[in-house]
Amino acid sequence: MRSSREWLDHFHSNAARQRTIPWQENGIGADAAELAPIRRSLQGWQLGETSDGRHLAAAADRFATETDDPAYREVIALFIREEQRHGALLGRILDDAGIPRRQADWGDSLFRRLRYSITNIEVWTTPVVMVETLAMIYYSAIRRATTSPVIRAVCAQILADEVPHVQLQCERLAILLVERSRTRFHLTMIGHRILFAVVMALVWAGHHRALRAGGFTWNYYRKAAYAKMNRAWHRMDPEHYAWPAETRP
Ligand SMILES: [Fe+2]
Ligand SMILES: [Fe+2]
Repeated sequence: MRSSREWLDHFHSNAARQRTIPWQENGIGADAAELAPIRRSLQGWQLGETSDGRHLAAAADRFATETDDPAYREVIALFIREEQRHGALLGRILDDAGIPRRQADWGDSLFRRLRYSITNIEVWTTPVVMVETLAMIYYSAIRRATTSPVIRAVCAQILADEVPHVQLQCERLAILLVERSRTRFHLTMIGHRILFAVVMALVWAGHHRALRAGGFTWNYYRKAAYAKMNRAWHRMDPEHYAWPAETRP
């Protein structure tokens, strides 16, 4: 498990090695037919990636105090900056493609409400790790759905960033879950499975046109989603990490 210091190093070096996006003078190199199945969905994800992160920063602040890990505040600040970079890249794609940016989207509003309803860091992290897992499927679908070098490069950048994001969230959940008995841990995981089934279905409901354009049928999407989420669940299981003796219940 990486310490907050190591995560800071990761975010700093990742920021320094961002891909160059082949932005074009005119448009993004995709025709209207190609954009038709993905444009609405891109508007939704653009909005989703654009968040000021105030709620998260507040939750991280408390978590940093409780776990006596002040560096965690900065980790989350850099994490938020990376998400905002995704929002900015997608925003420029929309602008260059002449697609208006949206101010509200039902999926985004629902997800925000879910995250903001409780300020507990665990409740915040759980839906986020699920959406980030599904985002990896989503962006690989978008990359396959278009020939636009701009969109493809942005998807590749976001995908590269999201893998460590999921790892970071899983490690933090493992820290929170280590104090739970195995029975309560398994009960928590049942809750996770129910929530994930719902979130996965909602993402499909909102974005199936784009996912299909990238070659994902419902069955293929579902299998890919569980394959990734099972890996994430494995990584949030405290049994898979070594802990100082006094940590375990
Ligand atoms: Fe992101
Ligand atoms: Fe992310």
